[in-house]
Amino acid sequence: MRVFASLSIALLALTSFTAQSQAPAASQVALTPPMGWNSWNYFAGKVDDKGIRAAADQLVSSGMKDAGYVYVNIDDTWEGERDASGVLHPNAKFPDMKALADYVHSKGLKIGIYSTPGPKTCGGYAGSLGHEEQDAKMYAEWGIDYLKYDMCSFIDDVMKKQAPNDEAQQMRIMQAAYVKMDKALKSTGRPIVYSFCQYGWDAVWEWGPSAGGNLWRTTGDVNATWDRIYEIASEQEGLEKYSGPGHWNDPDMLEVGNGSLSLGENRTHFSLWALLAAPLLAGNDLPNMKPEIKAILTNSDVIAIDQDALGKQGSRAYSDGEVEVWTRQLSGGALAIAVVNVGDNRYSTHPFHLNLRKLGLGGTQTGKDLWTGKTLELTENMPIELESHDILLVRVDKPKGRVPQNVTF
Ligand code: GLA
Repeated sequence: MRVFASLSIALLALTSFTAQSQAPAASQVALTPPMGWNSWNYFAGKVDDKGIRAAADQLVSSGMKDAGYVYVNIDDTWEGERDASGVLHPNAKFPDMKALADYVHSKGLKIGIYSTPGPKTCGGYAGSLGHEEQDAKMYAEWGIDYLKYDMCSFIDDVMKKQAPNDEAQQMRIMQAAYVKMDKALKSTGRPIVYSFCQYGWDAVWEWGPSAGGNLWRTTGDVNATWDRIYEIASEQEGLEKYSGPGHWNDPDMLEVGNGSLSLGENRTHFSLWALLAAPLLAGNDLPNMKPEIKAILTNSDVIAIDQDALGKQGSRAYSDGEVEVWTRQLSGGALAIAVVNVGDNRYSTHPFHLNLRKLGLGGTQTGKDLWTGKTLELTENMPIELESHDILLVRVDKPKGRVPQNVTF
């Protein structure tokens, strides 16, 4: 008995040590993937005070706020010049940042801002190099709740200059810059979501949490095309284990409603991001949002997949020709299953056949089709026809015939 007890204690200690060493203590922010809106994907350099206020208003009136979108994030091009004391002033597009933050807060929303560890942002505006603490303090005074910190000119102007031809040293310099801003943000005492934007360099998912990142971009920029969205989704393979409450992989912001994405492509993009436990930062023209785009962005069942409390990122389970099957484990033993036609043609004369056994499931599964809202039975080998780039997304609350995930041998 005593042997058993001490063995259990040792095992318990080992388990908690392993758990701690693998997953850093979740910070109080971003316990689920951040949701909100960011100015870049649609407005880019055209963002201004008026546009941010309009976005905040629209988040409320469209029902997006109620659906969970709370961050209103100003991306690049807000920055003006530094004065003699080094204080950075916003440019003429943003006459009073504190008043703007107050306005956004008065709507029950939160506000985010953007900077770089380099001397210049990607858009050529003033960066935080040498002014990290001063900037962090100013953000906190304004009431900023979220910082996207984008590498940009830091690569050429600092990393490559300080360590020419020494990539390993360049990466250490990069990591130190992200840690530096983390310390500056923490020393303000204000909870600020810290979003790394350095395009996944140096396997950021491995060191991001200990450098204070609540989320980190895993790739270069998204754009509003199916090819790029699918490419980014594919590049998330293998990164599932790095994501969790307080520290998320970020496959970049949403393009739902942008460019000429079809409705099916918009649905698939949104569904895949939810399966990936990605931040859901809409990037569309909110004042001119079409009803069908609003319906996608506010689909509460799909949002619930993204925001699932377990925080376990999903992945591609298998593919069969140009049809892929993705799954995500959800809290309470539930499972999200998606079938995606990534090919250019509709599957009709030779429909795809679902293989439930490959998903570790046995027998007919009853679930909810999250895009029609209807109950759906998934049967072994059932034929599924999908339009090109469209998706079937099903939530099965009580999957049958599966080995419990928490049993280890
Ligand atoms: C980089 C980022 C984008 C955006 C622009 C702004 O390209 O990856 O998300 O912030 O800079 O200049």
